[in-house]
Amino acid sequence: MSLLHLFLACLFAVILACAQFAASHQESGDSHCDPDDEARISAQFRPGIVTLDGHADDWADVDGFEFPLRPALDPDEDKEYKAGKMTVKALHDGTDVFFMLQVDGDYVYSKGDDHKCPSVALMFQVGESATYHDMGGCKESPDTCNSTSCRGFEVDIMHFSIGNSIPGRLYGGNSISGEGKGDGIALVDMYSWNPHCRNFDGSGTSGNDSIALNNWKGAWWHSSFSIHSGFIEDDSPYGSSGQKGTYYFEFSRPLRTMDRLQQDAQFTIGQASKFSAAFWYPTDGNPWHGSAHYTVSCDWVPMDVTPGFSTQGKVASSSWDAASGFALILSFVAFCVSIFVGHLVSKRKSVPFTPIDRL
Ligand SMILES: *[C@@H]1O[C@H](CO)[C@@H](O)[C@H](O)[C@H]1NC(C)=O
Ligand SMILES: *[C@@H]1O[C@H](CO)[C@@H](O)[C@H](O)[C@H]1NC(C)=O
Repeated sequence: MSLLHLFLACLFAVILACAQFAASHQESGDSHCDPDDEARISAQFRPGIVTLDGHADDWADVDGFEFPLRPALDPDEDKEYKAGKMTVKALHDGTDVFFMLQVDGDYVYSKGDDHKCPSVALMFQVGESATYHDMGGCKESPDTCNSTSCRGFEVDIMHFSIGNSIPGRLYGGNSISGEGKGDGIALVDMYSWNPHCRNFDGSGTSGNDSIALNNWKGAWWHSSFSIHSGFIEDDSPYGSSGQKGTYYFEFSRPLRTMDRLQQDAQFTIGQASKFSAAFWYPTDGNPWHGSAHYTVSCDWVPMDVTPGFSTQGKVASSSWDAASGFALILSFVAFCVSIFVGHLVSKRKSVPFTPIDRL
């Protein structure tokens, strides 16, 4: 009887604890976020291995990180993008930084309609106070946000919409004339203080800046395409709808830009930056809308820009190489010594034996 009481008391305590946990989970609501502590990418110094063409073959030897894609506004595991994870890889060549984003998805493409094609964005912290949440997180409204009232909350955004872009062709890198988009091409360089205070680089409430450039260049591809070169616009839609495969989005940007207005992230070799990546996908043929995107984490993800000749990230293989190289040298030295000793011994033999007592 008393055992049953004890059991019931325990059961009750467990139920109470569960209820409390559930309540506290609910309370935290929207701001609840459990970022993966392991999530991190490394842009190593790997000059001359990738070509900016949207193809991923040349990235095969570069390690990336696989991120689950969850809705930015509701990062719930149940609502994860089902077709696969997003692999993000990065490297630099001392001048430019390169990114490869790979994400599985059936081929969908509607020429001219960006919202009926997949789309990706990268976001970087610029100002030290800028949060991942709310794209900088400045509390000002669209009427009051400006470079003074939101100082320190700047984030840098690159957005690539592919509805007017031919796979395998290079876009971006344009100078900015007022509207930000060069020739209606949707690889844009933006900055923001919050989702409602977003501008193209070089424009905004603080006026136009003639130095501003779209510093990003990029290309895209889908693994279902059968030819590896030379699509033109008339080939659209480039492949058959619904084909299984992987989308590739490849980008580059100079480590440093001419920005004078806190609109671009500046990358420093040997230092970490904070980034995020977003993905839009037109599910069931329905166009996506701006806020309905997936992101790689519910907070900033660190990105290391590592110096050249660093062993970081490749420790295992490079120390193995060094060890085996050393072993090889050592065995070669041992081999030489043995030949020398052998030679010495055989030479000694040819010297006539001289008894000591004769000396
Ligand atoms: C920025 O906004 C603040 C607050 O709305 C305003 O007082 C200030 O004059 C604005 N500054 C500029 C440069 O527009
Ligand atoms: C910036 O340039 C665009 C196009 O040249 C012009 O329409 C706009 O009024 C300019 N904005 C400012 C604040 O000068």
